[in-house]
Amino acid sequence: MERLTGPEGISIRALRSEDVEAVAAIEREAFTTPWEPRTFAGLLDRSGVELVVMTDATDAVIGYSVLWCILDQGELANIAIAPGFRGRGLGARLLEHVLERARARGVRKVFLEVRASNEAAHALYARFGFEEVGRRRGYYERPQEDALVLVAAIEPAQPDDPAPHSGDTPTHRTERRRG
Ligand SMILES: CC(C)(COP(=O)(O)OP(=O)(O)OC[C@H]1O[C@@H](n2cnc3c(N)ncnc32)[C@H](O)[C@@H]1OP(=O)(O)O)[C@@H](O)C(=O)NCCC(=O)NCCS
Repeated sequence: MERLTGPEGISIRALRSEDVEAVAAIEREAFTTPWEPRTFAGLLDRSGVELVVMTDATDAVIGYSVLWCILDQGELANIAIAPGFRGRGLGARLLEHVLERARARGVRKVFLEVRASNEAAHALYARFGFEEVGRRRGYYERPQEDALVLVAAIEPAQPDDPAPHSGDTPTHRTERRRG
């Protein structure tokens, strides 16, 4: 995967096994029903998954995202930025990268579920054209809350865009209730 570097030494790259504990630590701060480290570890090297980390100038992990890709559909299963780095446009930058990877794989629609009360996430997704297409009542626990189902259309890749990875179907789909 390409490594993108920008202002302040912020980069986006593929998750490595040595990043798993740092990712899981951010996950525990971001969600009340966090994925276990072994869940992230189990996703390493799966070709149907875009699993990326955002790092600072010292290569410390400050965010991550998980996108499942199945044929022309994607599902944003997880995205978080470490608390001290939120509100600086980094979530938008990470999501932009992930959606670009989806586009390069031939994904035409990306779905996600989000807590009805998660205003920061709603603002982020609205910026990228996600629209509500459904509601799952009582979907989340701790606290119990509805999930909104959002979808965004992805414009097809142009012929000179980077070639996509091979698109195996991911099989590891446990612990999906984010928020
Ligand atoms: C959601 C999350 C990834 C956003 O990351 P971020 O780096 O703070 O987002 P950005 O700084 O790029 O901001 C993106 C948009 O959200 C808005 N936003 C950020 N924090 C916000 C907040 N607390 N309340 C309302 N809007 C907020 C920004 O104003 C921006 O909107 P704009 O483009 O209209 O100006 C981050 O808040 C997070 O990690 N939350 C915990 C995990 C989570 O909820 N993940 C989503 C699960 S569905």
